[in-house]
Amino acid sequence: MLIAGNWKMNTDVASGTKLASDIAKAAADADLGSVALAVCPPYVSLMPVGDALKGSGVALGAQNMHQEDGGAFTGEVSAAMLVSAGCTHVVLGHSERRQYFGESNHDIQQKVARARQNGLVPILCVGETKAERDAGDAKTVVEGQVRGGLADVPFDAPGDLVIAYEPVWAIGTGDTATPEQANEMHAFIRGLVADLYDKAFASDVHILYGGSMKPHNAEDLLSQPDVDGGLIGGASLDADSFIAIARHGAAIEAKA
Ligand code: 13P
Repeated sequence: MLIAGNWKMNTDVASGTKLASDIAKAAADADLGSVALAVCPPYVSLMPVGDALKGSGVALGAQNMHQEDGGAFTGEVSAAMLVSAGCTHVVLGHSERRQYFGESNHDIQQKVARARQNGLVPILCVGETKAERDAGDAKTVVEGQVRGGLADVPFDAPGDLVIAYEPVWAIGTGDTATPEQANEMHAFIRGLVADLYDKAFASDVHILYGGSMKPHNAEDLLSQPDVDGGLIGGASLDADSFIAIARHGAAIEAKA
């Protein structure tokens, strides 16, 4: 199981570094078994957060990157730069990037490919809007995002890819998908990954749920068979809440 925190555009260098050391400390005190943790702070905090996480086993990820290797792209950050700052993961295609910055499935596919070429694990985000779900189009939209985002990108091992199902209507709203809705979509996504790669690969790829996952609802969501972890927004900004979610994951894994 993987519990990852997407801090979005929250925290500054000082508060982000403090949050990272609180998470490292809380993770060390908790018995998390094989639950893996990652945090994705804003770019400016990557290096101090990485320092604060040293030796904790908590992985460092970024929230975005540019698809080109380098050059005249003012304001952008490349995959190699993220690696040089200590990142192992990168969130790609988050719905906020799609919605506010116009990222298309094609842009995201290029980023996923470039992330892999640089040894980063992409956390590919997919998910439908409320209108799309209400229109009965949720699976069609998610299928387009999964097939579009992964098109022709090779992966050596299932650990090289993470997919996050984040229904847009559940992000930051306090509404979550029901455990059944989440599991149904996760199983659907796993089937698509099996079709694109193979069954063994798909069965080991981590598919995370994201969208108002909190300590109080984490157990129900994480105990679904096709839910392999969470991508946490708001609740990842508090070390105790973040680790409380991870503890639910550890308790579920211990029972399995
Ligand atoms: P919330 O947990 O705040 O709903 O955010 C989810 C998310 O978008 C994580 O990437």
